Amino acid sequence: MQELSEGPTTLLPAFIEQRWDDYTAEQHEVWGLLYDRRMKQLVTDGSRVFLDGAKVIGLRHDQVPNLADVNARLSRMTGWNAVPVAGFLPAREFFQCLSMRRFPTTITVRTREQMDYLPEPDIFHDVFGHVPLHSDPAFADFLQRYGKIACAARDDEDVVRMTRLFWFTVEFGLVREDGRTKVYGSGLISSHGDAANALGPKCERRPFSLDAVFNQHFEIDHLQDVLFVVDSFEQLFAAVREAEERVTLC
Ligand SMILES: [Fe+2]
Repeated sequence: MQELSEGPTTLLPAFIEQRWDDYTAEQHEVWGLLYDRRMKQLVTDGSRVFLDGAKVIGLRHDQVPNLADVNARLSRMTGWNAVPVAGFLPAREFFQCLSMRRFPTTITVRTREQMDYLPEPDIFHDVFGHVPLHSDPAFADFLQRYGKIACAARDDEDVVRMTRLFWFTVEFGLVREDGRTKVYGSGLISSHGDAANALGPKCERRPFSLDAVFNQHFEIDHLQDVLFVVDSFEQLFAAVREAEERVTLC
């Protein structure tokens, strides 16, 4: 795929600036409530890769993250950056960003009334849920490679397969650590209800394989009844290499 050397603002007009000083005391407080509530559970149910990542990128319970600070730490470790956007990007632009180690990140804070559920991503889902994993070298490599393949996938069927791979790993992935199943997908990290369901009796947890994930239908906006468990993030990288051989690329 063509390497892009332009800065993010010239590449995609959807990139915006995070005006951190404009966040209100109420928004910092809502962030803190969300952070404390999830961390209380994630200390036992969250992947240690997430827990370590949240620390090393400097997430704090008392303030909305400043992406400039997060990126200063993160880019030193794996070359990833969180780049602010106003909302959903078209799929290929989103995948292209991933292929360049840029993670499109919404920067709005949900209201107090939306604490339990928000249909669209906000900074809590995107930065708390996604970005800590980007500090892990194996996950960082997996996600970039994923972006390269997904944005070059030519056939509609392959796009569906790659979307399933994203859903069952980056968004709703589970990992086996120290004999226990832990959550690492952002949809689980950022949502108490989804995480409790993922580890509870109503969700079937299957061993991860590329074949199984490529063939597993999913529906958004309700609790998942099938999820997949990896043994390590190296397994994800191996899967994305296998995907590269199986997907027809432009
Ligand atoms: Fe997400």
